[in-house]
Amino acid sequence: MKILVTGGMGFIGSHIAEYHASRGDRVVVLDNLSRGRLLPRAHGCSDLNRDYLLNLHHISHVEADIRDRQAVMEAAAGCDVIFHAAGQTAVTTSMRDPAEDFSVNVTGTFNILEAARLCGVGTVVYCSTNKVYGANVNKLGIREEPTRYAFCDSHADGIGEEFPIDRCEHTPYGCSKLTGDLYCQEYARCYGLRTAVFRMSCIYGTRQFGMEDQGWIAWLAYATLRGLPITVYGDGKQVRDILYIADLVDAYDRFLHSDLEHGVFNLGGGKGFSVSVLELLDILQGITGKRSPLTFREWRHSDQKVYISDISGAASALGWHPRTSPAEGIATLVDYLARNGSSR
Ligand SMILES: NC(=O)c1ccc[n+]([C@@H]2O[C@H](COP(=O)([O-])OP(=O)(O)OC[C@H]3O[C@@H](n4cnc5c(N)ncnc54)[C@H](O)[C@@H]3O)[C@@H](O)[C@H]2O)c1
Repeated sequence: MKILVTGGMGFIGSHIAEYHASRGDRVVVLDNLSRGRLLPRAHGCSDLNRDYLLNLHHISHVEADIRDRQAVMEAAAGCDVIFHAAGQTAVTTSMRDPAEDFSVNVTGTFNILEAARLCGVGTVVYCSTNKVYGANVNKLGIREEPTRYAFCDSHADGIGEEFPIDRCEHTPYGCSKLTGDLYCQEYARCYGLRTAVFRMSCIYGTRQFGMEDQGWIAWLAYATLRGLPITVYGDGKQVRDILYIADLVDAYDRFLHSDLEHGVFNLGGGKGFSVSVLELLDILQGITGKRSPLTFREWRHSDQKVYISDISGAASALGWHPRTSPAEGIATLVDYLARNGSSR
């Protein structure tokens, strides 16, 4: 197979690319390397994914922007599958610059779908997000426990795919990702393109270079390792279900090899694998023996107090279950970050 991975020099995309290259597929990575420009120089990691991938067989890199329609068309030509992982990824950035967020996430995604349609690409897999449900989840019954928030019994299994997506605060990022999500669904209905939309909660793992604005597990691990001060927005009891990257790639692969014509899946660690910010800081202290100085500030716009994916849809349609426990996955990430990237 020939595979196009947009955003393939980023965290999720690099794992998709590595997985398919290891199976002998020809992999084209289209990435404008903008993630590296968001990271502080001292992070030292912006080129690591590129260096790593280009040392593997079967992977080539097209340095281009997904908003460049011609470049996307040329990269998509002859491909069987597109994994669309490129994107503007931070809620905070989308608040500061909604035009940039819109152009990357909406125009960029539209270009991918059009290229797939016009070039006869069979399948498009889209990296959507739990933010499509916006602040609606905060309207549910939530109870406060000593270190975390939890859904009351009505949503004890988490948020399913039928959960309402409108009439709430989304943030520009939530809107732009939802627009791409809906377009993927429509291209399946209108044009018979095989599309999978994965509404992901919090994915983490090696080759993730987090920063305060995005990639919170990797950011808190990085800051803890290096003794950097940490700002917690809100009270730190926010909860997410967390999914290790290898389990995500497994879910994508199961869709690819299934008979499904299209699908929308909420994906995360589910209720079995969830953690709050405060709990993560304790886990990191247990692994590293270190604790960064903490400052608490105002809640961020539309932050979800608790988000747990109901993963039963993916489980029944794909025969998929998350396997990597938070303890195992976080220890692997910490080990990776300790060995890669320079200190300040
Ligand atoms: N990491 C998560 O927990 C998570 C959760 C939900 C959704 N997502 C979505 O998954 C996707 C991948 O996220 P990630 O964590 O790997 O982020 P990432 O920043 O590590 O990777 C994104 C990659 O896309 C590239 N990129 C950005 N804008 C581009 C453009 N205009 N043209 C070409 N390349 C561009 C970046 O250089 C980067 O390498 C994103 O669409 C994100 O919205 C991620």
